[in-house]
Amino acid sequence: MEMGFYFYVLCCFLIFSKASTATDSDTISVSESLADGMALVSNGGSFALGFFSPGSSNNRYLGIWYHNHPNQTVVWVANRMNPINDSTGVLKIESSGRVVLQVQNTTAVWSTNTTASVENPVLQLLDSGNLLVRDGNDSNPENYIWQSFDYPSDTMLPGMKIGIDLRTGFDRRLTAWKNWDDPSPADLTYGVELEGGPEMVIMKGSDKYSLSGLWIGNGFSGIRNVRDNLIYDYVFVWNENEVYYIFSLKNKSVLSRVVLNQTESVRKRYAWNPETQTWEMFSKRPSDDCDLYGHCGPNGNCDNNELPVCQCLTAFTPKWPERWKSSDYSGGCVLSKPLNCQSGDPFITLRRVKSPDIKNLWVNKAMNIKECEAQCRRNCSCMAYTYLNFTKGGGSGCYMWFGDLVDIKQFQSDSDGMELYIRGYASETEPKEKAKLKAAIILATVIAALLGFLLVVCYILRSRRKLKAKDEDEDEDLELVVFEFGTITKATGTFSFCNKLGQGGFGPVYKGTLANGQEIAVKRLSKSSGQGSNEFKNEVKLIAKLQHRNLVRLLGYCIHGDERMLVYEYMPNRSLDSFIFDQTKRKVLNWSKRFQIICGIARGLLYLHQDSRLRIIHRDLKASNVLLDSEMNPKISDFGMAKTFRGDQTEANTNRVVGTYGYMAPEYATDGLFSVKSDVFSFGIVLLEVISGRKNRGFYHANRSGNLIEHAWRLWTEGNPSGIVDEFLVETGDQPEPELLRCIHIGLLCVQQHPEERPCMSAVVLMLGSRSELHSPKQPGFLFHNKPFVPVSSPGNGGLCSRNELSLSTLEAR
Ligand SMILES: *[C@@H]1O[C@H](CO)[C@@H](O)[C@H](O)[C@H]1NC(C)=O
Ligand SMILES: *[C@@H]1O[C@H](CO)[C@@H](O)[C@H](O)[C@H]1NC(C)=O
Ligand SMILES: *[C@@H]1O[C@H](CO)[C@@H](O)[C@H](O)[C@H]1NC(C)=O
Ligand SMILES: *[C@@H]1O[C@H](CO)[C@@H](O)[C@H](O)[C@H]1NC(C)=O
Ligand SMILES: *[C@@H]1O[C@H](CO)[C@@H](O)[C@H](O)[C@H]1NC(C)=O
Ligand SMILES: *[C@@H]1O[C@H](CO)[C@@H](O)[C@H](O)[C@H]1NC(C)=O
Ligand SMILES: *[C@@H]1O[C@H](CO)[C@@H](O)[C@H](O)[C@H]1NC(C)=O
Ligand SMILES: *[C@@H]1O[C@H](CO)[C@@H](O)[C@H](O)[C@H]1NC(C)=O
Ligand SMILES: *[C@@H]1O[C@H](CO)[C@@H](O)[C@H](O)[C@H]1NC(C)=O
Repeated sequence: MEMGFYFYVLCCFLIFSKASTATDSDTISVSESLADGMALVSNGGSFALGFFSPGSSNNRYLGIWYHNHPNQTVVWVANRMNPINDSTGVLKIESSGRVVLQVQNTTAVWSTNTTASVENPVLQLLDSGNLLVRDGNDSNPENYIWQSFDYPSDTMLPGMKIGIDLRTGFDRRLTAWKNWDDPSPADLTYGVELEGGPEMVIMKGSDKYSLSGLWIGNGFSGIRNVRDNLIYDYVFVWNENEVYYIFSLKNKSVLSRVVLNQTESVRKRYAWNPETQTWEMFSKRPSDDCDLYGHCGPNGNCDNNELPVCQCLTAFTPKWPERWKSSDYSGGCVLSKPLNCQSGDPFITLRRVKSPDIKNLWVNKAMNIKECEAQCRRNCSCMAYTYLNFTKGGGSGCYMWFGDLVDIKQFQSDSDGMELYIRGYASETEPKEKAKLKAAIILATVIAALLGFLLVVCYILRSRRKLKAKDEDEDEDLELVVFEFGTITKATGTFSFCNKLGQGGFGPVYKGTLANGQEIAVKRLSKSSGQGSNEFKNEVKLIAKLQHRNLVRLLGYCIHGDERMLVYEYMPNRSLDSFIFDQTKRKVLNWSKRFQIICGIARGLLYLHQDSRLRIIHRDLKASNVLLDSEMNPKISDFGMAKTFRGDQTEANTNRVVGTYGYMAPEYATDGLFSVKSDVFSFGIVLLEVISGRKNRGFYHANRSGNLIEHAWRLWTEGNPSGIVDEFLVETGDQPEPELLRCIHIGLLCVQQHPEERPCMSAVVLMLGSRSELHSPKQPGFLFHNKPFVPVSSPGNGGLCSRNELSLSTLEAR
C-alpha cells in the first residue's frame, strides 16, 4: 500500500518534472522522432537537445542546454517565436532533409528551410552544442546541410562564427531573449557591422549601442587586451569571403560562453569554474560609460581617468560649453577655428585609444604607411588615419576617417588600444616649436653658467652628507605601497577564477586592474607560513629593496587577517616557458632575442648573488620563473621567496628542498646543499632550454635516452654541439653563429657536476659578453638518471671566481 503510494509520487515526479529523459543517442533519422520528455545527448555528453520551459513560464520550447549541469543553462532555442502550450511537441526529420517541429501531429511551429537530395538525412547533436542535418552516409561533419550554429539565439559558444558571409550576405548574430520567461527575440543584438570597415557591434534596435573598435591583431582596439587569460582564445577573421569573430577554449574543462541580456542591456562572458560548479562572469560590455556609443559626442575622447570623463580632441572645443560643464556631452566638440589644409596641417598622435566609429571610415588594405599618410594629408576632409600591420585575423592596411570622429576612448595601459593620427593646426604649432627652440637656447646658456657653481656646491654637500646618507639609506621607505584589501579584491574581481594567471609554488597569482587602469599581478600566499604581520612586513621590505631591470618589481603588499599578498608589476607577455616551449610562439624569438634574454637573466641573477645589498640565492630559477615584459626583456620572479615564505630556518635539520625537478643541482636535490652555484646550475639548464626550445625534464629524443643536458653533453663529446639548437633557429638560418656555440659551451660549464667547477654569475656575465677563451666543460651533473652522485671531496679550483662558499642561508645581510 505504502509502496504503491511512493511509486505513484515517483511517477508524478517523472511526468511533471521539466527534465527530459535522455535517449542514449545523439542522432535521429527519418523514421524516428523526438517527443516532449525525451532528449538527445551529444556523444561526449556535453550538451542535450529537448523540450524545456523557461523561467516561470509553462510554454514548451525545443532547445539545447549543457547536459548534467546544475540549473539548466539553455544555449539555443528553435521555436523562439512560437511557443508550444502543451506537451504534444514532436521533432522530426523529413526525407527531404527538412527538420520540423510539430504540435498535435499537424501544425508545424518551427522548421528548417534547407533541403537537399540525400538518401539518408539525419539530425545529430554534436559535442560542441551544434545541431546538424547531414547525410547519414557521409560522416564528414563539414558536409552538413543545415546547422544550428548558423541561427544563434542569445548565446555564443566556442567554434561558432558570429559575422557575415560576404559572398552570400548571410548574417549570423546573437539576439537577446525578451526576458527570463520569454526567449522570443528582443531588440538587443550582437554581430558584425560592415560600413566603412568591419567591427563587432552591440545594437539596440537599429541604433549602435556599444562598439568593439577595430581589430588590431591581438584584440579589438576598444576592448582591454585579455590575450593572457587562461580560458579562451579568439580571433576576428576578415578576408574576401567572410568576416567573423570566433573563440575557442584553452582548457576543455573550463567552459565559456557569451550571452546577451536584454534586461541589463549587456553582453556578458561567463566561464565555468569546475571547482565551485558555478558560472562566473569573466567580462561584460559595456563595462563603463565610455563603452556606450558616442558617449562624448563627436570629436570627444572618453577617458575614465579624467574629470570630466569627456575631453575634446586637440584643436576642438565643446560645442555647447555650458551644457558640457553640466555633464551633457551630447553636442560633442567642434573645431576651435577652421583648419588650413593648404599650409600642411600637422598630425597629432593619440596613443592607446579605441578607433573612431566606422561610419566614415575608408580602408585600403594595399596601401603602405607612407602612402596612407600622404593620402590623408592631401585630402582636407580626412581627419584621422592609422596604419595597421598584423598577422592574426585579417585587416592590415590603411584606415582613414572623414568628418567627425565619434566614439574614441582613452586607455591607460600600453597593451590596450591603438595609435591614431589626427589632423591639428599648422599655424599654432610652428611658432610654438620656434619658441621652444629659443627657450632651449636660453636655458642651455643658463644651465652652463649654473653648472660650474652647482658642481662646487654638490661637492661640498656630498662630502658633508656622506656619513649621514648611510643611515638614511637603511630607513628609506621605498615606494612600497600598502594596499587595502578592498582595493585588491576590487582589482582582481574578488580573486575571480577568471583573473587567475597561474598557480605558483607559493600560492595562486591573479591579474588585477587598479581604479587608475594600472595592471598588477597579485600573489596570494598560501596561509601555511603562519608568519606574524611584522615579520612579514620586514621580509617584504627586504625583497622590495632588490631592484634591477631584470627582476620583477614588487609594488607593494597587503595584509588581511591571516592572508598575505604580494603585489607585483604586471608582465603582459607572461613567462619564458610559454614562448620557448610553444610551437608557434617560439618563432617570435630569433637568436638575437634569445641571446638578449639569456644575458638579461644572467645579469638579474648576478645582481641577486653579488650586487644587491642582500645576498639572495634564488633556489627555484626556471623558465616559468622568468617573465617577459612588453619588449620581451626578461625579469626574474619569485626571488627571495624560499627563505621568506617557507620558514626553512626553523626546520634546520629537515631543510625542505624548494626547487623544481629538472632544474635542481645534484648536490641540492640529493643533499639539500644550496649555494650560488646551485643557482648557476639552474641557470645553465634555462640557457640550454632557451637554445634548444626543449624542456630538460620530459626531454625526448627518438633514439636516445636521458635528459636535455645529457643529450647536450653527448653531442658536445661527439663534436656536434649545435645539434641541440632549436630547429626553428636552424630553419631560419640563424645559426650556428659563434655566439650560439659559445652559449652552449657556457651552458655546459654551468651544469658541471661539481659546484666548485661551475663559474659564478660574474664570470658567466663576462663570458657572455666577451670572446675570451673558455675552459673545456667537465661532465655535467646528470640528474634523475640513476647515476650515483659523487659527494664533493676536495674543493677544486674553478679558477674563474673567488667566491666559492656553500651556504645554508638564502638571505644574508651584507
Ligand atoms: C494552444 O494553442 C493552440 C494553437 O496553437 C490553441 O488552439 C489552443 O487553444 C491553445 N490551448 C491553450 C490551453 O491555450
Ligand atoms: C499522431 O499520429 C499518430 C499516427 O499518425 C497517432 O498514432 C497518434 O495517436 C496521433 N497523436 C495525436 C496526439 O493526435
Ligand atoms: C525560412 O525562410 C523564410 C523565408 O525565406 C524565413 O523568413 C525564415 O526565417 C526561415 N526559417 C528558418 C528557420 O530559417
Ligand atoms: C546510405 O545508408 C543507407 C542506410 O544505412 C543505405 O540503405 C544506403 O544504401 C546508403 N546509400 C549509399 C549511397 O551508400
Ligand atoms: C538577465 O539578467 C537579469 C539580472 O541579472 C537576470 O535576472 C535575468 O535572468 C537575465 N536574463 C536572461 C534571459 O538570462
Ligand atoms: C584544466 O582545468 C582543470 C580544472 O581547473 C585543471 O585541473 C587542469 O589542470 C587544467 N588543464 C590544463 C591542461 O591546464
Ligand atoms: C542554481 O540556482 C541556485 C538558486 O537560484 C543558485 O544558488 C546557484 O548558484 C545556481 N547554480 C548555478 C551553477 O548557476
Ligand atoms: C576626399 O575624400 C572624399 C571622401 O572619400 C572624396 O569624396 C573626395 O573626392 C576626396 N577629395 C580629394 C581632393 O581627393
Ligand atoms: C608588416 O610587418 C612585417 C613584420 O612585422 C614586415 O615584415 C612587413 O614589411 C610589414 N608590412 C608593411 C606593409 O609594412
